[in-house]
Amino acid sequence: MSATTGEIKRVTTHVIQAMKTRGEKIAMLTAYDFSMARILDEAGIDILLVGDSASNVMAGHETTLPITLDQMIYHAQSVVRAVHRAMVVVDLPFGSYQANSEIALSSSIRIMKESGAHAVKLEGGAEVEESIKRILMAGIPVMGHLGLTPQSIYKFGTYTVRAKEEEEAQKLRDDAKLLETLGCFALVLEKIPAQLTKTVSESLEIPTIGIGAGMDADGQVLVTHDMLGITKDFKPRFLRRYLELFDAIGEATKHYIADVKAKDFPSDKEQY
Ligand code: KIV
Repeated sequence: MSATTGEIKRVTTHVIQAMKTRGEKIAMLTAYDFSMARILDEAGIDILLVGDSASNVMAGHETTLPITLDQMIYHAQSVVRAVHRAMVVVDLPFGSYQANSEIALSSSIRIMKESGAHAVKLEGGAEVEESIKRILMAGIPVMGHLGLTPQSIYKFGTYTVRAKEEEEAQKLRDDAKLLETLGCFALVLEKIPAQLTKTVSESLEIPTIGIGAGMDADGQVLVTHDMLGITKDFKPRFLRRYLELFDAIGEATKHYIADVKAKDFPSDKEQY
């Protein structure tokens, strides 16, 4: 993993840790396919997350629950083929690790072996301790995920900010420490109060990567389709849109349809 491709150094868990140590923020985005992963990697993204948000943005499901391990591996293979520099982390999908640590390990091994990814991510703290231990013992780097954990949406009932009350905030602080002690190399904090992110990030050696968790996380992650404005109607407060691609692609498509109907495409120069 520390090999170089041309002049481009591969981002590893050690590189990620060094970024936190020297105060450099970590930039992470999701990717699910070859073409997008290639663009994001060439732009210099540090970590590409093959998120189970693929269930929403790629497959159109309402939640992340339906996506399968086979489907995650398919997306991960496509991303890994495109990437020269970024670290590729793959979500263990719902049902692929919760039952017991043996299942968690075999799901993780399938991801690593069949996709060539560099690490796995899973949701939860003390509840998944045994699974994390077993995956780490096999030499597979693990990224944790606390706060709003979308695989538990039917337990939470809503996608609102988590850990606003002290009891839940304390459990999150305890879980974050536990994940670090177990050996996770980084931790996603999703949709929690900014002050809690600050406290947790300052208390840990390993980096935190926030989404809707404020400016004091050691890095930030967004779902690429949200950041590029492909998902038109999803506009939470934490989301900054860098493009409005839904509208731009729609306009380009209308232009193409008009050209075809008007017999303006293809032209003389666009045929053999
Ligand atoms: O699946 C996903 O995209 C994620 C990020 C939101 C962190 O888990």
